[in-house]
Amino acid sequence: MAFCSFLCGGKTSNRREHRKKSSMTWRVFSLKELHSATNNFNYDNKLGEGGFGSVYWGQLWDGSQIAVKRLRVWSNKAEMEFAVEVEILGRVRHKNLLALRGYCAEGQERLIVYDYMPNLSLLSHLHGHHLGECVLDWGRRMSIAIGSAEGIAYLHHHATPHIIHRDIKASNVLLDSDFQARVADFGFAKLIPDGATHVNTKVKGTLGYLAPEYAMFGKASESCDVYSFGILLLEVASGKKPIEKPSPTVKQAITDWALPLARERRFEEIADPRLNGKYEEAELKRVVLVALICAQSKPEKRPTMLEVVGLLKGESKEKLSSLENDEMFRPEPAMSCQGLSGPDDNSDSITEEKDSRVDLKQETNSLPEAAAHIS
Ligand SMILES: Nc1ncnc2c1ncn2[C@@H]1O[C@H](COP(=O)(O)OP(=O)(O)OP(=O)(O)O)[C@@H](O)[C@H]1O
Ligand SMILES: [Mg+2]
Repeated sequence: MAFCSFLCGGKTSNRREHRKKSSMTWRVFSLKELHSATNNFNYDNKLGEGGFGSVYWGQLWDGSQIAVKRLRVWSNKAEMEFAVEVEILGRVRHKNLLALRGYCAEGQERLIVYDYMPNLSLLSHLHGHHLGECVLDWGRRMSIAIGSAEGIAYLHHHATPHIIHRDIKASNVLLDSDFQARVADFGFAKLIPDGATHVNTKVKGTLGYLAPEYAMFGKASESCDVYSFGILLLEVASGKKPIEKPSPTVKQAITDWALPLARERRFEEIADPRLNGKYEEAELKRVVLVALICAQSKPEKRPTMLEVVGLLKGESKEKLSSLENDEMFRPEPAMSCQGLSGPDDNSDSITEEKDSRVDLKQETNSLPEAAAHIS
């Protein structure tokens, strides 16, 4: 489907007018303007690279800073993703979602313009080039956890129609000048029509974050985002990657590592060593329990994102204690890790097995922060 059918058709002009009337202010940029803002897409301006293409820092004539995402290769598929992202971002506004400033579609160039996030991605602080600085103290981690949960809860419960993100991960949580979380990248998002519980779709996403039912059957629902968010929470608390590779032949899913420790109430061993023990014990415990309850294999047992927000904020002591008494946290060594990790956790081969339906990426932590497509 062509980009024009989203943005240039008769139906769309109504939409455009509606946008003009609404407070959502985004505009069309000319290629010339973006060339000049990014010093002709200079390598020195490059912030990173993802599945869609490269991202460049730029400055507009009014001094404001932007991030420009440039589509790598034009194709129908990429065109579709571009159109979806523009369409979706244009209609959502929330303090914890990355705002769209506009787009450019000239010739075969497709570019999306966002606000520049001076503190880059959560990934860069947890596992990337900001790793050594350790600016993410516990207070910031808590507010990033709650803020990103609020952003996703908005997509699931307040946006019309509801939106599933489908690619929640550390590189898609950006940090503004106050280290507040802004969830980014709705290119993979799916709109859920009113009344539908899930949509069947080709599997897209990033290894280590995929809910098992989504990876296996392509059943996308809000609870797939809840699963990915659980993995993200564990990352924020522990500083570990979704899948650690202690040696070239061994892989360990973060859930398989954290659940036995949580069952034995050894939360201090889960805490990121870079915090040097400086964290609120009650909050750490809360984050870990919520993370694990989100990242369980049974989608029907996962909480909603609205519940997650309440739990993370510690709004209800009763809910928290019933969470702690959940059967999955009972110290039963025989059950260890059963039913928790999904097929995405232990094998990259999923892409080979389901080649026709899967479009997966593998998270990397090198700069530029490229996500290698492996399908
Ligand atoms: N608005 C922004 N402000 C600052 N840095 C950004 C912005 N958008 C993206 N980046 C940087 O560019 C990098 C690449 O982003 P991009 O979204 O293309 O790839 P990704 O998140 O790694 O993978 P995916 O393609 O799955 O989203 C990010 O990790 C981030 O560091
Ligand atoms: Mg991204």
